[in-house]
Amino acid sequence: MIETRNGTLFFDGCDTTQLAQKYGTPLYVYSQTAIEERFAELRRDFIDGWPGARVAYAAKSFFCLGMARLVANAGMCLDVVSGGELNTALAAGFPAERIEFNGNNKLISELELAVESGVGRIIVDGAHELEDIEAICKVKGKRMKVLYRVTPGVKADSHDYIITGKKDSKFGFPLDEDVIYPAVEAAIRSPYVDFLGFHFHLGSQLFEISPYIQAIEIVLDLVRQVKARYGVDTRELNLGGGFGITYTNEERMPYREYLAPMMERVAACFDEMGVPRPALVVEPGRSIAGDAAITLYTIGSIKEIKDVRKYASVDGGMTDNIRPALYQAVYRSTLANKADMPAEETVTICGKCCESGDVIIRDAQLPKVERGDCLAVFSTGAYGYTMASNYNGIPIPAVVLVKDGQEELMVRRQSYQDVIACQLVPESLKG
Ligand code: LLP
Repeated sequence: MIETRNGTLFFDGCDTTQLAQKYGTPLYVYSQTAIEERFAELRRDFIDGWPGARVAYAAKSFFCLGMARLVANAGMCLDVVSGGELNTALAAGFPAERIEFNGNNKLISELELAVESGVGRIIVDGAHELEDIEAICKVKGKRMKVLYRVTPGVKADSHDYIITGKKDSKFGFPLDEDVIYPAVEAAIRSPYVDFLGFHFHLGSQLFEISPYIQAIEIVLDLVRQVKARYGVDTRELNLGGGFGITYTNEERMPYREYLAPMMERVAACFDEMGVPRPALVVEPGRSIAGDAAITLYTIGSIKEIKDVRKYASVDGGMTDNIRPALYQAVYRSTLANKADMPAEETVTICGKCCESGDVIIRDAQLPKVERGDCLAVFSTGAYGYTMASNYNGIPIPAVVLVKDGQEELMVRRQSYQDVIACQLVPESLKG
């Protein structure tokens, strides 16, 4: 996907320096081939190996109308967490029945949109939400398929801001007997919902298998209890996402290493109970989009602070990639126009925002950096564009989709006009 031709960085067959020239920088560049390969891997190692298995791509990691089409065309399902993501999916013609709606505080208006548009599943996050869904379904004469998100109380190893499966969490039902069982019973007895099973999500950028195994074992205990108490079979289990990718020296693992041990345990549990195996669902985001994209920047101001550090500023920063500032995330980079030159200096790549924390890469090893060079930062596809902001009035960059040497614009760059499009001057302030 990434190669050097005549000293220039190519991405999925496209000359990145030409893309930078044609579309301007900063520029997010997504490889369609990389995204499709991830879906193919999941199809081979998960969907084809388990009747009823589905992949619901986590829109929060990267989403726009074009990405919705890519996910739809690959035959995948979609995990959305807001009315906005749901609306984007529907506007792209994404089949509603393949959408699953997650989120810890779904608004009534969002639930109404979900029920009206006929989304496939709502992943219920708390007891009050079941009541909201019931009320809406009653009025609209609908019945909704639901799963319960539970917090298995497992601690996964990642940045504290992106772990979610531990007991102290704003997400999901805690597994206290007096909380979870009355809630499950309410769903089973409700005429307005079809209770399918359970969902858990442990966190993001995970490389250990053991938290997944601990979590599935806890959830399988719950499944046995539900069978014993209510005689009800669990028909679906959603294992969440969280599979790690390579940013610098982490080693990405194939999906099957996470999934096969969970599939084995689910099969054994259901076979032992003598009931049909449930559908299994995963919700990967980062592992689909993360290393499928690079960000291109132009180097501007360069400052050498004697005996301290050399800074090179780019024309974007925390407005297009908040992850270093928010999670101390680290990235790899290269100069796209000097891709075959050896590294010869240590440079800190910073953004153009008025924040000292606006550093994209501390101590990058690069060939001699000069104004006008094109910097490519790798693995920026997840939680970059979707977390972008207009801080300092900076427009959100364009997104280009590339495949086999062909390129197409997927999101155009915001103009200054776009930045103020929602703003009004109060009558009382008009001069
Ligand atoms: N399912 C649920 C319910 C989730 O909460 C998430 C991520 C996913 C699936 C997808 O997880 P993934 O496969 O992408 O790890 N902004 C942070 C990551 C936040 C993740 C939130 N939930 C970051 O930039 O690292």
